[in-house]
Amino acid sequence: MEPCLSFKTSHVIRTISAILVLGMLSSQTAECTAAKVSLKYRAINCRKHSAVLTDFGAVGDGKTSNTKAFKAAIQSLSKHESDGAQLIVPPGKWLTGSFNITNSHFTLFLQKGAVILASQDESEWPQIPPLPSYGRGRDAIGGRFSSLIFGTNLTDVVITGHNGTIDGQGATWWTKFRSGGFLNVTRPYLIELMYSNQIHISNITLINSPSWNVHPVYSSDILVQQLTILAPIDSPNTDGINPDSCTNTRIEDCFIVSGDDCIAVKSGWDQYGIKFGMPTKQLIIRRLTCISPDSATIALGSEMSGGIEDVRAEDITAIETQSGIRIKTAKGRGAYVKNIYARRMNFKTMKYVFWMSGAYSQHADDGFDPNAIPQIQGINYRDVVAENVTYAARLDGIDNDPFKGICISNATITLTADPKELQWNCTNIAGVTSNVTPQPCSLLPVKKGVICPFPEDRLPIDDIQLKTCSTT
Ligand SMILES: *[C@@H]1O[C@H](CO)[C@@H](O)[C@H](O)[C@H]1NC(C)=O
Ligand SMILES: *[C@@H]1O[C@H](CO)[C@@H](O)[C@H](O)[C@H]1NC(C)=O
Ligand SMILES: *[C@@H]1O[C@H](CO)[C@@H](O)[C@H](O)[C@H]1NC(C)=O
Ligand SMILES: *[C@@H]1O[C@H](CO)[C@@H](O)[C@H](O)[C@H]1NC(C)=O
Ligand SMILES: *[C@@H]1O[C@H](CO)[C@@H](O)[C@H](O)[C@H]1NC(C)=O
Ligand SMILES: *[C@@H]1O[C@H](CO)[C@@H](O)[C@H](O)[C@H]1NC(C)=O
Ligand SMILES: *[C@@H]1O[C@H](CO)[C@@H](O)[C@H](O)[C@H]1NC(C)=O
Ligand SMILES: *[C@@H]1O[C@H](CO)[C@@H](O)[C@H](O)[C@H]1NC(C)=O
Repeated sequence: MEPCLSFKTSHVIRTISAILVLGMLSSQTAECTAAKVSLKYRAINCRKHSAVLTDFGAVGDGKTSNTKAFKAAIQSLSKHESDGAQLIVPPGKWLTGSFNITNSHFTLFLQKGAVILASQDESEWPQIPPLPSYGRGRDAIGGRFSSLIFGTNLTDVVITGHNGTIDGQGATWWTKFRSGGFLNVTRPYLIELMYSNQIHISNITLINSPSWNVHPVYSSDILVQQLTILAPIDSPNTDGINPDSCTNTRIEDCFIVSGDDCIAVKSGWDQYGIKFGMPTKQLIIRRLTCISPDSATIALGSEMSGGIEDVRAEDITAIETQSGIRIKTAKGRGAYVKNIYARRMNFKTMKYVFWMSGAYSQHADDGFDPNAIPQIQGINYRDVVAENVTYAARLDGIDNDPFKGICISNATITLTADPKELQWNCTNIAGVTSNVTPQPCSLLPVKKGVICPFPEDRLPIDDIQLKTCSTT
């Protein structure tokens, strides 16, 4: 059976044909001769072979589980792995448990009106071991539920669409998490790709994740574009995009509303992350809009034990968000956060514009090494406008381990109607400022004429060429 595109047939006809005459030639022919929709999109690679989810018995009624259909579709397309293949998810509500992308050179395409609905039945979520750089699950010490869409050891994976939706249906997970109901297991994420390279995730909407939304880990050459990520602002740990021990990543044109950090840059936790030793580096974040009243626009850490370096953020907007770029670390984390650059940040209604926390003392377990001191150095922020701010800065370094080389230039911060007295609360830090209002703390003396650096060179991920793909 050579799959064909058939998404012009009505939802009802598709459902009936799937139930009654699944696989029958007549139905197949009828669907194939229905007006073919042409798909046009841009991606890092186009695919020679296509299949539609409905070719594998899927039912888009929002009630029938399609876990087997996703698995069968991906398995069927594996015969085209070397040539490349795409699975098209047509309009409809496709309930599914966790499924794996097992093929390289693979595209998952969500058409306009396609909704992948995450099952709320825990038996649809296999458990997998904790990440080696964390030593345990993030929620609990045992294993973790596999992500809704999970892939490992892949090359060239695209998840895109005409802004179709992945709905995590997280409410039941949040409730159960808050009441301690999972005991020993960590909640699933929506998309996790591990030990992979050449990843492109774009033009889809992710809503109500049980926990983190997009988690590339131990991976490289990653392009994330045009994601809309939405979760209630009080939902637990619904981080937007978390590059974790990843190299050469570009995140751009994303709109994120969440209950936790819009972007959280990570690299493993305490002694486990130190041992694994894989940094996140060469990271571009641009044209991000964030709303997250209790969290950061961009967090660096708190799990940073493999190191974080060379982060370049620009054209960042946040509204009603707790902080701008926040560094979170603690004794026991080890490693470093260095060579961080940000410019053109625009904030409206914020608690702390600049925030560094040296005592973010959540530990994986008691086995951390208190002498593993993180090095925070070379943090450069310029061209910042922030309005309706409660505190300009809270910068807490670590005793005998000052955060060094902080540079802030051209920052105009206007305060709330009833401003706090101590606007710059600084301990154990060193650096300079220039053209910053209100007046910074004495540990960041003014050095006239300084313009904090932002790298001029390009990263390899800047030069990636997208191809125009069309399927008929
Ligand atoms: C996905 O693959 C992992 C191993 O990488 C496995 O543990 C898990 O059960 C698989 N999930 C599904 C839904 O088959
Ligand atoms: C939780 O998981 C850990 C690690 O797998 C295991 O040692 C422990 O027995 C589990 N505890 C419970 C209550 O299941
Ligand atoms: C995936 O890649 C990692 C890192 O290269 C390797 O350690 C692991 O064995 C690979 N796993 C599989 C299933 O091939
Ligand atoms: C993203 O999806 C929208 C909505 O379907 C579509 O109009 C637009 O062309 C898509 N953008 C890209 C780059 O594919
Ligand atoms: C995708 O859909 C979301 C939610 O409806 C919308 O806010 C966003 O603007 C759309 N994005 C694109 C690129 O069409
Ligand atoms: C200061 O920052 C603002 C806001 O980003 C920008 O418009 C302005 O050009 C900057 N001034 C200088 C001298 O770079
Ligand atoms: C300013 O911030 C305060 C919180 O500090 C908020 O209640 C108020 O609505 C904001 N005002 C405007 C004009 O956004
Ligand atoms: C200043 O920061 C210290 C921690 O370094 C904190 O204990 C203190 O409460 C802060 N002071 C104010 C006035 O916010």
